[in-house]
Amino acid sequence: MRSRRAGQADLRRAHKNLSGLEDGGRFVRGDICDAKAVEEAMNGCDTVFNFAAESHVDRSLMGDPAHAGAFVQTDVYGVYVLLEEAKRQNVKKFVQVSTDEVYGDVSEGHSVETDPLEPRSPYSASKAGGELIARSYFVSHDMPVVITRGSNTFGPYQYPEKLLPLFVSNALDDQPLPMYGDGLQRRDWLHAEDHCRGILLAAEAGTPGEAYNIGGGNEKTNRDITQMILQLLDKPQSLIQTVADRPGHDRRYALNCDKIRALGWQPSRDFGADVAATVEWYRANEAWWRPLKNDAEYQQYYKRNYENRAQEQQPASR
Ligand code: DAU
Repeated sequence: MRSRRAGQADLRRAHKNLSGLEDGGRFVRGDICDAKAVEEAMNGCDTVFNFAAESHVDRSLMGDPAHAGAFVQTDVYGVYVLLEEAKRQNVKKFVQVSTDEVYGDVSEGHSVETDPLEPRSPYSASKAGGELIARSYFVSHDMPVVITRGSNTFGPYQYPEKLLPLFVSNALDDQPLPMYGDGLQRRDWLHAEDHCRGILLAAEAGTPGEAYNIGGGNEKTNRDITQMILQLLDKPQSLIQTVADRPGHDRRYALNCDKIRALGWQPSRDFGADVAATVEWYRANEAWWRPLKNDAEYQQYYKRNYENRAQEQQPASR
């Protein structure tokens, strides 16, 4: 099931990919909060992977209930709807895809799965809520729930609100790259394929009731990533526009991945080559991202999120 912002082209692509599956995959478009749609989609499934979420931190901070409320609705209530149906259908594994952000800001060291959950944005709090509901179905109903906590994921087809596709597509248009605060916040970058291999392994070999960290081991500052993008596209530093910071911005996330490694997973990718390939993918696939950025909802989001930030950052005239 897809998020409500998936474009028609994405839906057609997902449909085509799934229809091509040898075991006759089925594509159902629906909202995870809609119990009827969930019943139809889950019918006959033995494993459920819940990737569906409101996922963008900035949108969860936009200051009106329509935004933060959508996060609670999808990331908590939606998980409950899925769990109820999974319980009814007696599924063999339920994988709740979560995030390293549930640990909150990690100024030093690396988070282990038993660390307390200390989320600090409406987004990460709603994801922590989803995890807790999922875990409660393991404890109360003996459901085979496994939780994964992934780090910052990147690759082709990422919606152009996230750092990498946003900065690449803006740079291609010679538009400013809005860097929050000092740009020294640190994230651990993980290629989508490594992330998916970890999630699959957690489904196959993970112990019910347990959580598994999945991180790429590529800790970088936002400035590092931005420099890489500019160099790859041969664009000037002057495109970087320092803007007001994200409220409550977590400086750093970092994961200890010993537990998933003990199951046999390890990151298999070359970070530099993957960033270069991803940047190249966006350069070659403008026909995919341009309509998404031209969409009225996106434009409205962009204006609301960035307009005031840029103004706040201007030096005082007196
Ligand atoms: O860590 C896993 C998380 O990674 C996932 O759970 C989230 O769903 C996903 O959105 C991502 O969260 P981030 O907030 O880290 O990703 P984002 O791409 O929004 O931002 C990455 C960093 O770049 C973050 O420190 C904020 C900064 N940033 C982001 C944007 C969009 C900027 O400086 N300027 C921007 O315009």
